[in-house]
Amino acid sequence: MADECKDKLWGGRFSAPTDKFVEEFTASIDFDKRLYHQDIRGSIAHARMLGKQGIIPIADVERIVHGLQEILDQIEAGEFDFSVALEDIHMNIEARLSARIGEAGKRLHTGRSRNDQVALDIRLYLRDELVEISAYLDLLIDALVARAEEQLGVIMPGYTHLQTAQPILFSHHLLAYVEMFSRDKGRMEDCLKRTNVLPLGAGALAGTTFPIDREHVAELLDFPAVTRNSLDSVSDRDFALEFLAAASILMMHLSRFSEELILWSTSEFKFIELSDSFCTGSSIMPQKKNPDVPELVRGKTGRVYGNLMALLTVMKSLPLAYNKDMQEDKEPLFDTIDTVKGSLKIFADMIREMRVNVGTMRAAAAKGFSTATDVADYLVRKGMPFRDAHEVVGKTVAYCIANGKDLPDLTVEEWQRFSPQIGADIAAAIGLEASVNARAATGGTALERVKAEIERIKAGR
Ligand code: ARG
Repeated sequence: MADECKDKLWGGRFSAPTDKFVEEFTASIDFDKRLYHQDIRGSIAHARMLGKQGIIPIADVERIVHGLQEILDQIEAGEFDFSVALEDIHMNIEARLSARIGEAGKRLHTGRSRNDQVALDIRLYLRDELVEISAYLDLLIDALVARAEEQLGVIMPGYTHLQTAQPILFSHHLLAYVEMFSRDKGRMEDCLKRTNVLPLGAGALAGTTFPIDREHVAELLDFPAVTRNSLDSVSDRDFALEFLAAASILMMHLSRFSEELILWSTSEFKFIELSDSFCTGSSIMPQKKNPDVPELVRGKTGRVYGNLMALLTVMKSLPLAYNKDMQEDKEPLFDTIDTVKGSLKIFADMIREMRVNVGTMRAAAAKGFSTATDVADYLVRKGMPFRDAHEVVGKTVAYCIANGKDLPDLTVEEWQRFSPQIGADIAAAIGLEASVNARAATGGTALERVKAEIERIKAGR
């Protein structure tokens, strides 16, 4: 072995040292050092199993466990010098262990490969993050439900095509997001089931010649199951892709909500006011208060979609089993975890603090002939087929537009020009409250229905 290759854990077959730039290019330590805790935890479980199975001496297991714990402390104290020459977190820790405890340290990698080791580390890491992301989703859901309860009765315009459609409760709008974020949580929990499986024991790809006990390692690391095929164990990243897909859908929801908050904060809408702490000013226009936080969340949705595409593309067409390409899984994964957690946290705070302009919302809900459907439904109740009623109301709206009037301005005589079936009771049918409260079937915007939904959601939490 050339002297320069001696510091490499795999230096045995090599006679020339690695080119410096190749070393930097192939290293992952800059980003996978994040996995130090999982790597040490996994190694301790592996060492204990090796000892229990009589594969390495028990005395060595104790040295390994103690040595790894010291390394953990050192990393957490910021005193560990990570080396690019040692490529990744796995070899950084293993090399340091051997340097500290000698012979025993060199037995740790028995019956294991970095391929199953890295698969284990990522699964350990992601499963904790999935639990944390679910907790952040809970925070946001709680904030939304609290605001829905507080603003119960506030009416806003509901839109289709961003044109005024029908009046709705503001609380109903907030609860729509509660539904979306609850499904996002379900997707994270579902992803956890497939992430929470132990891959260690697959070795490089085919398994190991040593009499290992994978079920024991699974127990030590709290995995409810072990993977069933060694090739699949080291080459599968679909659990990570599933997370990235779930995260993309979650960010899509957040970006739609962001867009609405941005729109509602404009001087044209003025439905809400975001707290100053979530906005910034302009360096030139003194009047500006920009909704930076929702804008950034909307923008960050792009990088999360990009991360999903990146990993899908990395994995596309890879032959079994492990390929170095797969080292590219970590940055998109870590970046997505950070982005999603940050976005959820800041969103929950922002929702809690936003001010709602009840009067402006209500005034907007009354405009745009928002209760025209209620007039049609009124005529249907008087016996007219819906299509005919639609036509009658369409003509009435055209009349109003031509005469600068709104539906509540019409006299009974004017109404009757369009249909003799309309009586004085029309006024009650086109009020905002009447319109909202008439939609009382499951899923509708009626006050009683929304109140019941809030109770149902709270009871389920
Ligand atoms: N740093 C590598 C990764 O992240 C660890 C596994 C390397 N395995 C190998 N045979 N080179 O994927």
